[in-house]
Amino acid sequence: MNNQEQIDYWNGDAGKRWARDDAIMERLLRPVTGALLDHARVEGCRSALDIGCGGGSQSLLLAERIGEAGSVLGVDISGPMLEVAEAKTRQLPPGSAEVTFLQADAATQPFEPGSFDLLFSRFGVMFFDDPAAAFGALQATLQPGGRLAFCCWQSLKENAWSLLPFQAALKHVPPPEKPDPHAPGPFAFADPERVRSILDAAGFADIHLESFNSTLRFSESATFAESVRGLAEIGPIARLLADQPQDVREQVFLSMEEVMAPYFTEGALVMPVAIWFVTARRD
Ligand SMILES: C[S@@+](CC[C@H](N)C(=O)[O-])C[C@H]1O[C@@H](n2cnc3c(N)ncnc32)[C@H](O)[C@@H]1O
Repeated sequence: MNNQEQIDYWNGDAGKRWARDDAIMERLLRPVTGALLDHARVEGCRSALDIGCGGGSQSLLLAERIGEAGSVLGVDISGPMLEVAEAKTRQLPPGSAEVTFLQADAATQPFEPGSFDLLFSRFGVMFFDDPAAAFGALQATLQPGGRLAFCCWQSLKENAWSLLPFQAALKHVPPPEKPDPHAPGPFAFADPERVRSILDAAGFADIHLESFNSTLRFSESATFAESVRGLAEIGPIARLLADQPQDVREQVFLSMEEVMAPYFTEGALVMPVAIWFVTARRD
């Protein structure tokens, strides 16, 4: 299995941008994080793995809920994001579980079998080249009865925050070469049947997908023009614009402004989101 493309991506400009914008992302995703932690029923767990932990804000919240008898290991391929995560461990409130971070590919890292009672992820599991093999290996790291809880995006069509910028960009740049809906990326797990069959083949039981629908405040504390430009740095549009010259980017931003004005309110783009909360268990 080779996740090299993702390793390059999350250690390159994109990873550095995510590291720079970690506080913005943490604030943006706060409503999702709280709801996911509630849904995952993490209290009572002792040993959690946070997969694709990025800047680690949710690893710390997980540790707070688990409490001091437990431990949380955040694993990620991105050096820049793990630097941010490491720096945060100083903010861990007393009474929290111990938190450590590891730079490794979660799909291939030889974790001790049965070392975790919770596999957790906030948007960090949709980037595996071979998700069936990755989840098969991850399942074996769970103790019997241990649980999996993660969130992932529903389809691009159901997420206007990403669809509208993408459509605006396609007016000015060619579409991606082979649009494969299952290719590693933010929307790779949009199809609930695909998620179920990957987890089922990996040996998980009690697989449940629950729809989480809400609104999020994108690019908060910004002008409309800044908000639009901020939104162009996340999701599929970011990859589409990565190699585009500045004049093309500016044309895309203007097209985005035309369609996004109705969503700008109180210093942020307030946009609906559609997310899957996925839970499963090892027998
Ligand atoms: C969309 S970001 C989410 C980060 C973080 N969970 C959050 O919610 O802020 C996806 C993360 O998955 C990580 N990632 C992608 N493929 C990975 C892999 N094979 N093993 C570990 N981490 C991976 C990326 O480096 C990135 O930090």
